[in-house]
Amino acid sequence: MGNDKIKYKGQEILRNLDSILQKDSFHFELKGLTKSTRDIINEVVQGILERIGANPLTSFHLFSGVMEALLNAVKANARFVIFKDELLTKLRSGGQTPEEEAEELLDTILETEPLRDAMQRYIVPDKIKKTVQKILTLSDKKKSKKVTLSTEDISFLELVREKTKIYNLKISVKIEIREKELYIRIRNDSPIMGMDLARIRKSRTRHAELAREGKSGDFFRPDFLDEKESAGFGIAMIDEGFYNLGLDPLECFDIQTSKHATSVYLNYPIDALKKMEF
Ligand SMILES: Nc1ncnc2c1ncn2[C@@H]1O[C@H](COP(=O)(O)OP(=O)(O)OP(=O)(O)O)[C@@H](O)[C@H]1O
Ligand SMILES: [Mg+2]
Repeated sequence: MGNDKIKYKGQEILRNLDSILQKDSFHFELKGLTKSTRDIINEVVQGILERIGANPLTSFHLFSGVMEALLNAVKANARFVIFKDELLTKLRSGGQTPEEEAEELLDTILETEPLRDAMQRYIVPDKIKKTVQKILTLSDKKKSKKVTLSTEDISFLELVREKTKIYNLKISVKIEIREKELYIRIRNDSPIMGMDLARIRKSRTRHAELAREGKSGDFFRPDFLDEKESAGFGIAMIDEGFYNLGLDPLECFDIQTSKHATSVYLNYPIDALKKMEF
């Protein structure tokens, strides 16, 4: 990490934190979101906020926003691995499609948005959700070293890791301290699928309407829960963080997605972070 290309790994970041924090631009690559990774990110974020003279009360909103966005990125990559795998299995299962053709077909499907979205119907979302959860839980356990994983669980994690590598799915975080703003970009190598982006936009607009009436928190009330299949709470929580900082998330927080990647942009005006009254 760092703009003069000094690279640090894991705990090295914490050991070199003071010199790292002298820079204005940071680049991280993440493999997951285990406890130690979260701790490192927390330290870096705290350090940056201190450096720019931010009100300490802002750090909670900023850190939880970054965490939500990162969790989405981690989940999305894991989900994409499983989605691809399930699809490949389905394509092969008839015994009609030879190996290379199945892979080619998979690529075509993934490249063609309507096809890709249609395929979502054949892959049971619940199964994917459960598997993603399993990956997250097992990774945390493995890293914490407090529990011994079964050989089955270890090889499952190994398989996911290999596939993530083969599919070249990465997660990166770029942070820049600019003249007037703190800029954070979180990117993962998997698209937002199906109607999710449209749902997210609609849901964010609804949240903004409530915020204009001075009751953004109402968005989280059970009576608003109905239509939010997967335009869920993660993104709404990021928006809420901005509202709590007196900022407009529709201006400061943007999500872009393509066939190959999703990027989340978080912009925090430094003046707003320095403000003392909330
Ligand atoms: N970085 C991302 N890459 C790909 N898809 C994403 C990303 N972030 C969000 N999504 C999609 O948008 C949906 C809504 O995200 P949000 O965090 O608001 O909801 P959620 O209830 O937390 O859902 P999830 O548990 O799936 O993250 C997700 O379910 C996912 O399909
Ligand atoms: Mg989420």
